[in-house]
Amino acid sequence: MSDIVVQALTKIVGKENILLSLEERMCYAYDGTFRSFLPDYVVRPACTKEVQEILLLAGEHGIPVYPRGAGTGLSGGSVPINGGIAMDLIRMNKILELDKANLIVVVEPGVVTAELHKFVESHGLYYPPDPASLKSCTIGGNVAEGAGGPRAIKYGVTRDYVMGLEVVTPAGNVIKTGGRTVKNVSGYDLTRLMVGSEGTLGVFTKIILKLIPKPEAKKTILSIYPKLDGAADTVPEIINRGIIPASLEIMDDVAINCVETHLHLGLPKDAEAILLIEVDGDREAVERQGQVVAEICKSNGAMEVKVAKDDKEAEELWVARRAVSAAILQLNPTKVSEDATVPRTAIPEMIRRLRKISQKYNLPLPVYGHAGDGNLHPNIVCNKRDPEEMERVEQAVREIFEATIELGGTLTGEHGIGLMKAPFVNLQFSPEEIQYFREIKKVFDPQNILNPGKIFGGEEHEGLFSAAKRD
Ligand code: LAC
Ligand code: ZN
Repeated sequence: MSDIVVQALTKIVGKENILLSLEERMCYAYDGTFRSFLPDYVVRPACTKEVQEILLLAGEHGIPVYPRGAGTGLSGGSVPINGGIAMDLIRMNKILELDKANLIVVVEPGVVTAELHKFVESHGLYYPPDPASLKSCTIGGNVAEGAGGPRAIKYGVTRDYVMGLEVVTPAGNVIKTGGRTVKNVSGYDLTRLMVGSEGTLGVFTKIILKLIPKPEAKKTILSIYPKLDGAADTVPEIINRGIIPASLEIMDDVAINCVETHLHLGLPKDAEAILLIEVDGDREAVERQGQVVAEICKSNGAMEVKVAKDDKEAEELWVARRAVSAAILQLNPTKVSEDATVPRTAIPEMIRRLRKISQKYNLPLPVYGHAGDGNLHPNIVCNKRDPEEMERVEQAVREIFEATIELGGTLTGEHGIGLMKAPFVNLQFSPEEIQYFREIKKVFDPQNILNPGKIFGGEEHEGLFSAAKRD
């Protein structure tokens, strides 16, 4: 820690917005993964100018800066692996403008996603992206990581709603990308480049988001299957009947058993799969589609099909799906949560391969996720204090990614590469492609001060999982 830097940062953000005690810095060492790294300084800027001044100062002293929202990320994207400055953006949490006629909302990065939902829905509008952590995650983090969620199958992901950005670059320039018009082909599409750039190219200080009218009605259906194949066959059949559900979620038998042991919801422990399906839109269409979906579930061998009668019942049906992430921790204390994504038709084969990997490495591997868009969450539940087990975890993760790529998929559908998947990027990208990434990074960040050590892979990441024993 340098006195000069502390003084300069204090001048920028004020004494109460620089945190230096070990306890306070510890809180910024983590995200939603199992790795942690202590920052030297934590700063909480309140405006674009302060963000700019912090980056200029960091550049002058060659200090790394790790921007973050609520720290719910699942790829180690915001953990400060080289120490330096953790830049907490949650004070910048204003909804700046709602332009109803143009279906636009302008926000600061620290707005909590669920708060944005509530705000726009109170005006009859809708912001569809709904990452599982929506009650605590922030829009800035969603944009940085390219977050998705259950509604992606019908409505797309965060990327599809970002129309424009104000960005402070690592060199301290304030730039604007995109704009407010539906049509806009002026220049390179820097907005798309920034979305999902995982805090490596710039810090977002204003975000212009597209909205849609709030769907009039929805219908939620929970379908329980004695056989996984029945669930797998249900997915394409719904889509082939011309219905794109708002959500189409799956849980496998390991996940079902964990949830049932955890919450005692009355789920059959011998079921091999559950699908949670939601259709939304005009009231009449939703009624009709709900009936068709329920019939398709039954004709594919579902042992039980529950259709919610109202919002309260719909929420009850979501309880199991929302509880999975916490429930699987009863198996072991460390969760390695992946978001490998394959074309949706490859899901049955992907699940078969995941089972083989689970057996081969003798690791519990509950699977749940967004069956409708091919984005599965295989979770390896392990103990980071067991070095031998973590070696096996690393090999299992590699095999999961190899299977994903072989089936035409991608390493990450919605959590980002960050730190945890950086050792595996070369499975998806050629050296030439990675070189383009590196060159783009250099254009924005010649000094490599913004979120260094993320995405690109390289030797520094070797043994990422086994090294966890040192945490
Ligand atoms: C979910 C997170 C893990 O869908 O993406 O629950
Ligand atoms: Zn997810």
